Amino acid sequence: MSELDGIRLTTDLGPSETEDAKQFWRQTELMGKSYGARPPEYALKIARLIAAGQPESVFEFGCNAGRNLEQLRTLLPSARLAGVDINAASIRFGRSRGFDIWVGDERILAGFPDNSWDLTFTISVLDHVPDHRPIANELLRVSRKYMLLYEPCVRGRVGKIEEPERASDDRRVVPYSYLHNYYELGDTSDARLLLDESIPVKPTGVGPYYRAMLFSKVSVDAEPFHRALTE
Ligand SMILES: C[S@@+](CC[C@H](N)C(=O)[O-])C[C@H]1O[C@@H](n2cnc3c(N)ncnc32)[C@H](O)[C@@H]1O
Repeated sequence: MSELDGIRLTTDLGPSETEDAKQFWRQTELMGKSYGARPPEYALKIARLIAAGQPESVFEFGCNAGRNLEQLRTLLPSARLAGVDINAASIRFGRSRGFDIWVGDERILAGFPDNSWDLTFTISVLDHVPDHRPIANELLRVSRKYMLLYEPCVRGRVGKIEEPERASDDRRVVPYSYLHNYYELGDTSDARLLLDESIPVKPTGVGPYYRAMLFSKVSVDAEPFHRALTE
């Protein structure tokens, strides 16, 4: 057990942790299905970051009902936008709004050939799976140019986030939340970390620790991506 500004972490996970996490996310109605008229600043920044790469095809892993793809529809009107999520009710809702999204988990990635999508991304998804590595490595394999992860990340801190005992505590996190080391992905693949920016979601809980980590398989200038974040 270790402490991170009052957030307790444990690496002592049971044998059914992966399946338990999936079962929770299959059924929960916790997620907002749309950002409505005023998306949060972080979502707008991530959409601008993605658009800066001018991808012709984008795949979101853990897309829920498609609220991030909705932002991209405006910024990238001719790109192919698609996604997958384990939550069938969310996917049903998103499909009824015209999104090209399917029910599934990481096993769906095995069906994509290498370099299938110009860009793949996650927004707070890998922090809800006990082991991010097989998924991130598959996302890198199916990405032709970029993989963008927007996840909480603190160097040297990994483990499951234990929920504080007091229900009213504003540090409360959703069940099945984990901190992972995403930096090692750049060491074990042909992708390099092109951009690594802190973009807090909110001031409490793990909110301050969210980062946009853009991995690139192509040799490009990082400047347009940095500029997209300051627009
Ligand atoms: C915190 S929500 C974020 C949703 C979306 N990315 C957003 O920003 O609105 C996490 C999402 O990951 C999905 N998820 C969790 N584990 C998954 C898995 N193994 N395969 C596919 N989706 C998963 C959940 O159903 C949920 O929609």
